[in-house]
Amino acid sequence: MSLYAIGDLHLSYQVPNKKMDKFGKVWHDHEEKFVENCRKMVSDEDTLVLVGDHTWGRKMSECEEDFKYIMSLPGKKILTRGNHDMFWDSHKTDKLNEQFAGKLQFLQGNYIPYGDYALVATKGYTFEGPFYLDSRGRIIDWDEKEAAKAEKLVEREYKRLVEAFEKAAEAGYKKYIMFLHYPPTNVLQKESCFTRLAEQYKVDQVIYAHCHGEARYDDSIKGDFHGIKYSLVSGDYLKWKPQLIIQ
Ligand SMILES: [Fe+2]
Ligand SMILES: [Fe+2]
Repeated sequence: MSLYAIGDLHLSYQVPNKKMDKFGKVWHDHEEKFVENCRKMVSDEDTLVLVGDHTWGRKMSECEEDFKYIMSLPGKKILTRGNHDMFWDSHKTDKLNEQFAGKLQFLQGNYIPYGDYALVATKGYTFEGPFYLDSRGRIIDWDEKEAAKAEKLVEREYKRLVEAFEKAAEAGYKKYIMFLHYPPTNVLQKESCFTRLAEQYKVDQVIYAHCHGEARYDDSIKGDFHGIKYSLVSGDYLKWKPQLIIQ
């Protein structure tokens, strides 16, 4: 029984004008590459966490084929929420879980047990600019209004994550894996409320996605930071091979 993660499938079976091919070779037939890799690596006893940005469909009726694809993948599938998942009203996660009972699990602002671990997830948020650069490409300033807006969204997501940890702790869990769709820090930060919360709860690992395209792979923390392992699992970064999180 192993735990795997990957994010940013950006499926578009019913909205073909959203195909990701223009973002480079890595996206060419990425759906087929991913299925093949999953069949080689993931068994039906394993769990696969899909870390947001599942589909370009804006409403459920535009996502049906994408969900069929996801349901056809091996293993138990847990979906967390990304910024492009318009089908997913954050207040109606229970409804999604009822609709897909026995097929898919949706996790946002809550936890799911995995052995003696609690898998804790929320979408997260971080300020991504606009930034103003000097002639050498260094950030010298940023849009204050957008930064203030982002701060509010960070606060909301932080509260959701606190709630998720509190529920898991109340249920007796002491070991955690934390999933965010957004990176835990932006290019200006060394740490954030999310990294501090991860430290407070002594999580083993922080998994995030969202950073795709080569220019974004180093936006946030990767590897060991204050004793916690951070992993970027966006699909193109992983070349569509799910990342092993726990053996
Ligand atoms: Fe994405
Ligand atoms: Fe995203």
